[in-house]
Amino acid sequence: MSKQQSYIAKTFSGLEEVLSKEIKELGGLNNKILNRAVLFDGDKELLYKVNYLCRTAIRVLVPIAIFRAENENELYKEVLKIKWEDYIHLNGTFSIDGITSYSNISHSKYLALKTKDAIADRFRDKYGRRPNVDTRDPDVKINVRVFRNECTVSLDSSGESLHKRGYRTGTGPAPLNEVLAAGMILLSGWDSNGNFVDPMCGSGTLPIEAAMLAYNIPPLKYREQFGFTRWKDFDKEMWQKIKDDAEAARKEFKFNIIGSDKSGRILQVARENVVSAGLDDVISLRAQYIDDVHPPDGGGVMITNPPYGERIKVEDIKKLYAGIGDALKTEFEGYNAWIISSDKEALKFIGLRPSRRITLFNGPLESGFYKFEIYKGTKKVHKTGKEDDASSANPRRRRKRIDKS
Ligand SMILES: C[S@@+](CC[C@H](N)C(=O)[O-])C[C@H]1O[C@@H](n2cnc3c(N)ncnc32)[C@H](O)[C@@H]1O
Repeated sequence: MSKQQSYIAKTFSGLEEVLSKEIKELGGLNNKILNRAVLFDGDKELLYKVNYLCRTAIRVLVPIAIFRAENENELYKEVLKIKWEDYIHLNGTFSIDGITSYSNISHSKYLALKTKDAIADRFRDKYGRRPNVDTRDPDVKINVRVFRNECTVSLDSSGESLHKRGYRTGTGPAPLNEVLAAGMILLSGWDSNGNFVDPMCGSGTLPIEAAMLAYNIPPLKYREQFGFTRWKDFDKEMWQKIKDDAEAARKEFKFNIIGSDKSGRILQVARENVVSAGLDDVISLRAQYIDDVHPPDGGGVMITNPPYGERIKVEDIKKLYAGIGDALKTEFEGYNAWIISSDKEALKFIGLRPSRRITLFNGPLESGFYKFEIYKGTKKVHKTGKEDDASSANPRRRRKRIDKS
C-alpha cells in the first residue's frame, strides 16, 4: 500500500459534512470535521482524486510539519529543519501564505517573511543559492498557520482555489461561487432522479454544477494546473489514470436541466459558460421572467439565488419575492424548492413555510438556504397568519417582456 498521511481539505462554513461524505466516498479514512475544513487520511492517489473530484473542496493542504512556536526565533529554527530540498527545486519558485491568530507571532506578513528567510537560508547553507519567490505563479505554494502558538506548515496541493473550475468565461454582477453552488445542490439531496430548474440562473453556475453532478463529470475537468502537478514527486501516470477512469465513469441522465433569467444579456454569458463546459446539449437556457416559467412535469428540484435587495428598492424586492412565491405555488407542484438569500424580510413575502433552513455564507453575507416542499395542498402562509391551499391559488400573472439589458 502506498504511503498514508493526513490531509486537510478546506471548504465553506456549512459544507463540512457534505465535503466529508465526498471524501469518504473516494476512500478517505479517519475523517474529522473541523471548522470550514475536513481532516482525513489517505495516500497520494486520494490527494489527486480529492482535488479533481470533490465538488465542495476549496483547497487541499498537505501538512509537513507541526510544532510549537512561541516566538519568531522558534519558528525560524523549526522551519529551517524541514527538508525543503525534497519539495522545491533549486531552480524552482515558491510562495508563502501566512495566517496567524491568538498567537505571540501576531502579524501574518511577518510570519510569512520569517518562514521565507528560513527556507532561503536552508538552501543557501546547502547549495550556496536558493529558489526564487514568485507570489503570482509559484511551483510550490506553502501555507503556514499559527493558532495559539501551534504552527502547521503545509504544502498547498491545489494551487489556485478549486472554485476556479476552468469553464467560466464570464459572470453576471453577483455570481455564486462554484463550490458554494455545488454544495447547495448536494445539500438539497437531489439524487439526479428528477428535473433541475434554476429560474434566476444569472451566468448559469447552478445549472452547470448540477449537470456536472448528474452526468458524473469531474468538477475540475477543465482545469489544467493544480499545485501538485508542479511538485517534485508528481506522478504523471497516476494522474492520467485518475482522469481516464473519471471519463469512463460518466453517467446517463434522463431528466431536464433548465436555467432561465429575465436578462437576455446575462443569459448570453450563461450560454457561453455552458458551451465552455461542454454542456450545451444537456442544459436548456431560456430568457424568461420567473412569472412565465413552466417547469417540466415529473417534479425534481428547483434551486435559485434571487437578488438580495442590496441594490434593489424595498418595494421591488417585496414584489419580486412575492412573485417567486406565486410561481412556486402555481407551477412547481412536485418540486422541492430551495432558495438562498440573506434577506430575511424579503423571504417572508414568499408566503410559504420553509421545512428546513441551513446557514451558509454567500461571500461575506450570512444567508439562509431555505427548503420549500411544494406538493398539492402545500400550506401558504399569509401575512395575516392564516393558511390556505396552494392548489386553489391562481394569481393572475401578467406576461412580461424579456429584459434586454
Ligand atoms: C444573484 S443573481 C443570480 C446569480 C447566479 N446564481 C450566478 O451564479 O450567476 C440573480 C439573477 O436573478 C435575475 N432576476 C431578477 N429578477 C428576476 C425575475 N423576476 N425573473 C427572472 N430572473 C430575475 C437577475 O437578472 C439575476 O441574473
